[in-house]
Amino acid sequence: MKLLHIIATPRTYESNTLRIATAYLESVRNKVATLSVDTLDLFGPDLPTAVSDHIAAHYSLLARQPIQKRHLASWQQIERLIEQFLAADRYLITTPMWNLSVPYILKYYIDSIVQPSYLLEHTAAGWPIGLVQNKKMVCIVSHGSDYSVQTPTLCHPHNFLEPYLRAIFGTIGIADIQFITAQPMDVTPELRETAVAAAIVEARQLAANFE
Ligand SMILES: Cc1cc2nc3c(=O)[nH]c(=O)nc-3n(C[C@H](O)[C@H](O)[C@H](O)COP(=O)(O)O)c2cc1C
Repeated sequence: MKLLHIIATPRTYESNTLRIATAYLESVRNKVATLSVDTLDLFGPDLPTAVSDHIAAHYSLLARQPIQKRHLASWQQIERLIEQFLAADRYLITTPMWNLSVPYILKYYIDSIVQPSYLLEHTAAGWPIGLVQNKKMVCIVSHGSDYSVQTPTLCHPHNFLEPYLRAIFGTIGIADIQFITAQPMDVTPELRETAVAAAIVEARQLAANFE
């Protein structure tokens, strides 16, 4: 079984989210000896940057037209990312909330891999049909503040991170998505450590049911 671990925090050594993900992965590895983990550090490797070429190729695919020759070299980079994504049976996304949603690099990655005829197709009426079937995802996320608290300025509806990840990965066919949320990370050290410890317990419980 292959798990792709997608990391969307640049704070490799200080990341609170990564502390929880590391505990989760350790427990999963103990459970599934044959697990192979592929790590994609989104802030680390060079993600393809020729955005305009990718977007042109995206519209060619939508129109069911061949990709133009001048966009092929850049498209091969996207295909490599897609192949890596599709090679996995299970996904782990480790991400903080940035400005109520995902960090830009995770959005960029999603914009790169979610491509017509690879991860989804469209009906004649334009409705998406997910092509990524029989796969499961765990998202380990952390917030600086606590979005379970209802205040006029900070409340559950302002959390666009979890609904967005559920919506986009659901659209490509991944229906089984579990979340572990640690919050608040940035109020006091005591609250942070309590929340991280609780999330690690939750992560180990989730790992015990990994299949
Ligand atoms: C650019 C940026 C934007 C952020 N925006 C939010 C936010 O909208 N809401 C929130 O609760 N925390 C926000 N935070 C705080 C992070 O979500 C929090 O510190 C998180 O635990 C960091 O995770 P990490 O330690 O894994 O990097 C933001 C942090 C940064 C750097």
